[in-house]
Amino acid sequence: MEFHVCTLFPEMIEQGCQTSILGRAMDKGLISIDTTNIRDFSTNKHMKVDDYPYGGGAGMVMQAEPVYAACESAKQKMGGQARVIYLTPQGRVFDQKMAEEFAREDHLVFLCGHYEGIDERVLEEVVTDSVSIGDYVLTGGELPAMVMIDAIARLVPGVLNNDVSADIESFHDDLLEYPQYTRPAVWHDKEVPQVLLSGHHARIEEWRYEKSVERTAKWRPDLLEKHKKNTCIQ
Ligand code: ADE
Repeated sequence: MEFHVCTLFPEMIEQGCQTSILGRAMDKGLISIDTTNIRDFSTNKHMKVDDYPYGGGAGMVMQAEPVYAACESAKQKMGGQARVIYLTPQGRVFDQKMAEEFAREDHLVFLCGHYEGIDERVLEEVVTDSVSIGDYVLTGGELPAMVMIDAIARLVPGVLNNDVSADIESFHDDLLEYPQYTRPAVWHDKEVPQVLLSGHHARIEEWRYEKSVERTAKWRPDLLEKHKKNTCIQ
């Protein structure tokens, strides 16, 4: 799967994505993460890409033409057709279901804004999806793009070592994940729950499901309602 990020800070994306699981996935050729520097498409001799907002107000606005040219160049590199995701607090809020939907694409372009935003006219022309990562305002779209790339890339077959773990973890079936333990069996006088040492797989599954429900009820009752509705549990 190919990710391409249009940004004024390509080094943020390059440094943020090159380690750990994403770095390994790139080395294995399962994903690629490229960047386009929007500043390279400035039409200004000082390489400026922003200007004052019409109508006045605080801050600067990114100009339409460099953003348009950067996105078109990114799309061309991906064969001409790709969804263009604009990161903005005004977008649809990202969740696991959206990650699964985007993971079915072969190419994705991310557009990161800075300053007070981007000229609306270019957004109308190039953006296919506006996405927020939550109800708070960040200084730019780079961190949200990295959050999305991480959540999507780990769904690409082969990226996680064990393919099942993407299936059983938090948010699958609208439940939070059960607690996990590893050696030693006793730590700070706390014992690992006996059932996990029993080797009895059916009972372990049952215990894990109970713990998932318990946690979801405590921390995310909204999700538990969804789970009950979807699994017809009363
Ligand atoms: N840009 C600034 N804040 C953002 C957010 N919460 N989600 C996506 N993009 C953003």
